[in-house]
Amino acid sequence: MMNGKPKIIGVLTSGGDAPGMNAAVRAVVRTAIKRDIRVLGITNGYNGLINGEVIEMDLRKVSSLLHRGGTLLKTARCKEFRTKEGQLKAYEVCKEMGIEGLVVIGGDGSFRGAKALSDLGVPTVGIPGTIDNDIASTDYTIGFYTALNTVVDAIDRLRDTSESHNRCSVVEVMGHGAGHLALYSSIAGGGTSCWINEVDFDVEKDIIQKMKRTLRTGKHNFVIIVSEGITDIHALAKEIEAKTGVESRATVLGHIQRGGSPAAYDRLLASRMGYHAVEVLEQGIGDRVIVVRGDVIGDMDITEALNMTKKADPIMIAINETINI
Ligand code: F6P
Repeated sequence: MMNGKPKIIGVLTSGGDAPGMNAAVRAVVRTAIKRDIRVLGITNGYNGLINGEVIEMDLRKVSSLLHRGGTLLKTARCKEFRTKEGQLKAYEVCKEMGIEGLVVIGGDGSFRGAKALSDLGVPTVGIPGTIDNDIASTDYTIGFYTALNTVVDAIDRLRDTSESHNRCSVVEVMGHGAGHLALYSSIAGGGTSCWINEVDFDVEKDIIQKMKRTLRTGKHNFVIIVSEGITDIHALAKEIEAKTGVESRATVLGHIQRGGSPAAYDRLLASRMGYHAVEVLEQGIGDRVIVVRGDVIGDMDITEALNMTKKADPIMIAINETINI
């Protein structure tokens, strides 16, 4: 979809927040202003767009923002925007405010909304921001590496106490059905077992027998990583304790995984993607999603991107199973 160079663009964050979203907003604002494009920040995601909640984004609005977690623009999951009526309302608001291009920072659900707006005539570009890294078109999403550091730090701490007490620690990691965060944290944190949806997993074989073998070698502490939504980890911890005799504790890491200052990688990714998103919109092009592949930033058709599927990397699965014994 091509229009002319926009005079005003909007930027919003949508879905679950992710560290680095602020850095992406900052990059969009500063790149656009440098190119004489005015930027309106839309607060509360698509909800805010429907209700016309906008703030003027000048250079100072985004200063001291690069290192801050969360999102200055706030975020929401908006049911109304999934309906045609909601999308039309948002389109009308864009027309009223003179918004001729929009950057949406979020996950796949947010990109579906971006597509709808592009179809209605507001060129919209998506930037992948989610800790889940479950967007197939891009190698990495903004926030993933920061969340990974948070999870690995938590695992290290849990290992300290498990080691002192000769215990097993069962840790639930976020992912929204995708096992990337759990798998990467298992490799980086040295999980005894890692249970994700993408692999065939048998508690008896992959946890109980493995722990019993390891106990015979003289190791008495364990970290079991489970991707969220698979099982009740409190019940699992009880089962492990009953079957192995190793005292076990369950920890759901929860929303701490979403907060915190973005890692340098996420700040860089956000800055590069924000800059590229404005370059795309500047040409009057919409209906695109910004991606990174092999450290090259590019863009791709939203529909094409949404039709792609991302499996857990088989090499990472093999590495985890080989090294974490
Ligand atoms: O998509 C990001 C994510 O943090 C998922 O990992 C998790 O399943 C979900 O959001 C939690 O959402 P909420 O903030 O609505 O509890």
